[in-house]
Amino acid sequence: MAPTNGQEGNGLKVEVLRESLRAISHKGDELVATFYDILFTKYPQVRPMFDSTRMPEQRAKLLRSLVVIVRNLDKPGYLAPYLQGLGKMHVAYGAQAAHYDAVGECLLQAMAKTAGPMWNDELAQAWADAYAAAAGLMKQGAGPN
Ligand code: HEM
Repeated sequence: MAPTNGQEGNGLKVEVLRESLRAISHKGDELVATFYDILFTKYPQVRPMFDSTRMPEQRAKLLRSLVVIVRNLDKPGYLAPYLQGLGKMHVAYGAQAAHYDAVGECLLQAMAKTAGPMWNDELAQAWADAYAAAAGLMKQGAGPN
């Protein structure tokens, strides 16, 4: 039976998330560029982690990854191993638990800025929940540290 509260069994507002990502998909480049601008401004201490990174490619990779996550929110059997694997890779990049909070905060701000007037409290909460779930799986994949 279809859920009546617009949420999937995992508690995430899948349709709200998909719809909002679709609505800003033509601004995907702006979204990720804005994200890294905010991140490096608010948390300059993470900038050196990207010293040898080709940022145009990294922006594209992050955008693709966000799309993969949102497309597969209702497929935990696919999403969990994908995010755990990504989290494991991030250990090598030097990502720590506190970095995930910083990235989440900046990603949400970048979304709000890119989405403009369509952004609202419901979207902010839906994205915060989805990010927390994704980051949780990545940290799980990273193992205890
Ligand atoms: C939900 C959260 C995150 C997602 C979806 C994400 C996504 C990605 C993806 C898709 C890549 C490219 C991996 C590849 O080359 O195949 C990447 C690389 C990277 N990420 Fe993340 N990431 C997240 C959180 C973080 C956090 C918290 C940090 C810490 C500041 C971080 C730092 C990096 C760095 C340093 C790289 C490597 C860049 C390089 O190749 O030089 N990421 N991330």
